[in-house]
Amino acid sequence: MKFFIDTANLDQIREANDLGILDGVTTNPSLMAKEGIRGEENINKHYVDICNIVEGDVSAEVIATDLDGMIREGEKLTTLHPQIVVKIPMIKEGVKAIRYLNSKGIKTNCTLVFSAGQAILAAKAGATYVSPFIGRLDDISTEGVELIGQIVDIYRYYDFDTQVLAASIRHTMHIVQCAEVGADVVTCPLDPILGLLKHPLTDIGLEKFLADHNKK
Ligand code: G3P
Repeated sequence: MKFFIDTANLDQIREANDLGILDGVTTNPSLMAKEGIRGEENINKHYVDICNIVEGDVSAEVIATDLDGMIREGEKLTTLHPQIVVKIPMIKEGVKAIRYLNSKGIKTNCTLVFSAGQAILAAKAGATYVSPFIGRLDDISTEGVELIGQIVDIYRYYDFDTQVLAASIRHTMHIVQCAEVGADVVTCPLDPILGLLKHPLTDIGLEKFLADHNKK
């Protein structure tokens, strides 16, 4: 399972990268705005800064929602850095844009996916990644992790190449649950990743080992 960090915060990206377990980054317009990155030039520079920190794929989202606009933006984004993956929303024109970009050898991440049907369309269009948002499903009393398992099963059955990228992860257990159902990638903020480290018996055990070692 690959680990992506879901943020545009460069310090958090560096911290996750320094752990040595980071495989990529996902961003979205809300995360960019949260960091105060505004205007096309600044946003594009920020994508390059992110690519210079990590080695893996970096998802950069288009703002246009019409086919020509998404294709134009997507093609421009990929000229910024070879690690850029174009993030396209799951709308009718988005499916067409994914198909077109895929035919040009450009990697895509189909975002805002909330059903297995949408995930089937994304895979048929040739998306590199599909991003089901599990936290936002949990928010409306629907089991987000179940959708991840459903999509994984469908993709395996038909041998689709599209990777299931579990997004909108809110806490550490979401990561473990996504691993249990076979997600190819999890993308999450830094805190849920760091939460994986924690166990009180590890802390107690280490304290005792060190105390015993230091006994005179
Ligand atoms: O990757 C999508 C993610 O950024 C959305 O997360 O917490 O806003 O639902 P959230």
